[in-house]
Amino acid sequence: MKRIAVLTTGGDAPGMNPAIRSVVRYGINQKLEVMGVFRGWWGLINEELKILNQRSVSGIIGQGGTVLKTARCSEFRTEEGQKRAYETVKKNNIDGLVAIGGNGSFSAAHEFYKKYNVPCVGIAASIDNDINGIDYTIGTDTAINTALDAIDKIRDTATSMERIFVVEVMGRESGFIALTVALAGGCEDVIIPEKELDLKAVCHDIVHGNLIGKMSWIIVLAEGAGKADDLARQITDMTGLETRTVVLGHVQRGGRPTAFSRDMALNLGKAAVDCLLAGKTDIALGMNAGRIVEVNFEVAIRKKELKVDNFYNLIKVLT
Ligand code: F6P
Repeated sequence: MKRIAVLTTGGDAPGMNPAIRSVVRYGINQKLEVMGVFRGWWGLINEELKILNQRSVSGIIGQGGTVLKTARCSEFRTEEGQKRAYETVKKNNIDGLVAIGGNGSFSAAHEFYKKYNVPCVGIAASIDNDINGIDYTIGTDTAINTALDAIDKIRDTATSMERIFVVEVMGRESGFIALTVALAGGCEDVIIPEKELDLKAVCHDIVHGNLIGKMSWIIVLAEGAGKADDLARQITDMTGLETRTVVLGHVQRGGRPTAFSRDMALNLGKAAVDCLLAGKTDIALGMNAGRIVEVNFEVAIRKKELKVDNFYNLIKVLT
C-alpha cells in the first residue's frame, strides 16, 4: 500500500478535523502518501482531490466542521456515480480509502466495496450517535454539551418566568441527544422517535406539577418525534398554559470539539490507517468503553437499539 485517500461525508460532526489530521500525519509517518478528497463521495466522482502533507492539517485540531468539506451525495448510490468514483481511484493510484462519516456514508461505502473491491475503512462520526455496534461516535460528546449548555440557559429564564419550554434537539431517527441532555439537564420530560408519545400523560404531569408548586417545565423533543411548535400548541390547548419553543438546530453540529471528541478522533484516525495497512476493509471504527472497535459495515448500518427505558425512567423519577 503506497497511497491512501481520506474524505469526510454526510452531516459534519465536531471532531472530523482532528480525525483528518491523524490520518494524514500518521499515514505519512507510516510512509504512505495521503490524498484529501473534497466534499465526500462527490469529490471522488468529480476528481476533486489533492496530496496533503503535515502542514496541510496544521491548526485544525480544535476547529469544528471539516476542512475537506462534506456533502450528502445521492449520485454515489448510482452505477454511473460509482463507476466515475472508481475511475478516480484508479487514475490516482489510490490503494485504500478512509471515510469519516455516519451510517448513510457507510452503506454507500459498503456497496462501492462490494462492486469495486477498493479497500475502505470508516471512522464513525455523527452527532446522532446512531451507528450500530458502536457506543460513541466522533462529535456526539461535543453536540450534547452544546445542547446542554443551551438547556442550562433556557432553565434560567424558564425558572425565573415560571414557564413551559419545548426544546427541539437534533436526531431525525435517534433520540440519543434528546435523552442524554434531558437527563443531564434535569429536564422534566423527553419525547423521542423510539417511544410512543402519550401527550395526555405529559400534560397531566404539567398540570399536577403546577398544583404542587412546580411552575417551570422543560420538555426536550427529538426532531424525529415532531415539531416543537406543534407540540407547544397542543400542550397549551390541553393545559391552558403558555408554552415557549426553542429549536436548537444546526448550532449542535458546530463548535470546537471537546477533548473527548478530539481524543477519540485522533485515536480512530491512526487506527484506520493501521487497519488499511493490515489489509482490513469494509469496516467502521468507533469506541466502546474506551476501546477501539471494528464493526463490519453491514452490521454498522443496521438500526441501533437505544436503551430508552433506563434513561426515561430516571428522568421521570428525578423530576
Ligand atoms: O448529522 C445528523 C443530523 O444532524 C441529524 O440529526 C439531522 O436530522 C440531520 O443531520 C440534518 O441534516 P442536514 O444538515 O442535511 O439538514
